[in-house]
Amino acid sequence: MEKTFLMVKPDAVQRGLIGKIVARFEQKGFKLVAAKLMTISEELASNHYGEHKEKPFFSDLVGFITSGPVFAMVWEGENVIATARQMMGKTNPQEALPGTIRGDYGLIVSKNVIHGSDSLDSAEREISLFFNEDELQEYLKDS
Ligand code: CMP
Repeated sequence: MEKTFLMVKPDAVQRGLIGKIVARFEQKGFKLVAAKLMTISEELASNHYGEHKEKPFFSDLVGFITSGPVFAMVWEGENVIATARQMMGKTNPQEALPGTIRGDYGLIVSKNVIHGSDSLDSAEREISLFFNEDELQEYLKDS
């Protein structure tokens, strides 16, 4: 079954939004298979955001994502990568539609509430950066 990596960012953790965000994916029917509240090291942040290394906002991005705890998660379900991206809305909360997570809870692009993998390759890479294989749980077959 397809899996994706989602992360509630420091802005949303500080604002007490973890529960509301988790509820949306549960209500949709996806399964939470791993989760942890953690503070990201600079090394992990640089690896995770490696594709943005040349961008002018890279150091701000790393500074922000390491500034306080994040809630890192792995979710599982049919087409979860693309569907979770739709539920998150556009990267810039100003462009994200109402009803999406960023549209409802975000205001600026650098503090956009949530991160989600954008492809199968990134999902596999990001899951293995944040979790060991034995941290991923399995649900009962009929649930
Ligand atoms: P995310 O999906 O976590 O992946 C890369 C992040 O870079 C993105 O969300 C934004 O939070 C951030 N980002 C994108 N564009 C900018 C920008 N112009 N200034 C600051 N941060 C940005």
